[in-house]
Amino acid sequence: MVDLSTSIAGVTLPNLLLNASGVNCRYENELQQLLDSSAGSLVTKSATLSSRDGNPEPRYAPLAGQIGSINSMGLPNQGYEYYLEYAKKFDYNNAAGKPLFISLAGMSLPDNKAMCEAFRDANLPCVLEINFSCPNLPGKPQLGYDMEAMEAALQVLAPIIGKPFGIKLPPYFDIAHFDQAAAIFNKFDNIAYVTCINSVGNGLAIDWESETALIKPKDGFGGLGGLMVLQTSLANVNAFYRRLNNGKQVIGCGGVTSGKEAFLHILAGASAVQIGTQLQEEGTGVFERVSKELEEIMVAKGYTNVEEFRGKVKTL
Ligand code: FUM
Repeated sequence: MVDLSTSIAGVTLPNLLLNASGVNCRYENELQQLLDSSAGSLVTKSATLSSRDGNPEPRYAPLAGQIGSINSMGLPNQGYEYYLEYAKKFDYNNAAGKPLFISLAGMSLPDNKAMCEAFRDANLPCVLEINFSCPNLPGKPQLGYDMEAMEAALQVLAPIIGKPFGIKLPPYFDIAHFDQAAAIFNKFDNIAYVTCINSVGNGLAIDWESETALIKPKDGFGGLGGLMVLQTSLANVNAFYRRLNNGKQVIGCGGVTSGKEAFLHILAGASAVQIGTQLQEEGTGVFERVSKELEEIMVAKGYTNVEEFRGKVKTL
C-alpha cells in the first residue's frame, strides 16, 4: 500500500531508512545485523587509513530525558582495508536489495586520496561517502567548516572517485554558510548527495549531582545527537535541498526517534533518512518500528509514496 523505497547515487533502497555511520557498523557482525533488520541499506563506520582504537572511554552517553546523546568516539574503526574486503565480499545481488555505503574519513588529504584510489581500483558497486565532519579528533578541525580546504579536497577526490558519491556534512548555522557550501558542491557533477547532519560538535554534558562531565575525552566535549538536534537537522536538510542542483540529493540524519521525525525529514527534502542515537539505544528493531510508524502517518495523510511529499514543507 505504501512505498518507502528511494534511489540515491544510482542505487535503489527498498526502504529509505538506514543507520547513521558510526552506529552498529564497525564490525562485520554489526553490519550483518543491519542486513538482517528492516533497514533499507547500511553504511559502514567511517574508515581511516589504519585502524584506530578511538578516544578513551567512557566516550558515549545517552542524556537524561531521552533528549539525545553526547559522544566523542574518536573514529574507532578497523582501517579501510577491512571495509574494502567487506565490500568485495558483499553479496550485492542477495542482500534483500540493500545497497552498501562505505564511509571514509581520512586524517589527511593524502589518506583520503589513497583510500578513494583503492576503492576506485576495486571497481565495486558500493557508494562512497566522504566524511568531512567528525568533531571528535583532538587538534583536527572539521574540514566541512573550512570552505577552501573542503573545495580543494573535492577537487582531488571527486575525479578519483569518478562515479556518484556523497559527503557527510557538519551542521551549518548561518545562511551564508549554506550558500557557500552549496555553491562548492554544485561545481562537482559526481557529488550525488550530501548527508545532513553529523553531530552538533563540542557540546558539554555534566551530571549535576557528581558535578562531572559525562564523557572522558576532550574534558567532556563531544558531538550532540538525537532528538535535541532535530530542528538543526531539518534546517540543514532543507537548506541544501533548496540549493543543490542537477539532481543532487540530501540524506537526513539527526533527531529521528519515531516515524514522525522521519516524515519531517522527508518533508524537509530528505531522499533517505539515517538513525543514529535511537539505533544505539534501541537496537536494530528501530527500523521496523519507525518504518511502520512512517507508513501509518503516510496512510493517514493519503500518501502512497515518499515522492508525493518530499521537500513539500509549507512556509508561512
Ligand atoms: O568520534 C567519532 O568517531 C565520530 C565520527 C563522526 O562523527 O563522524
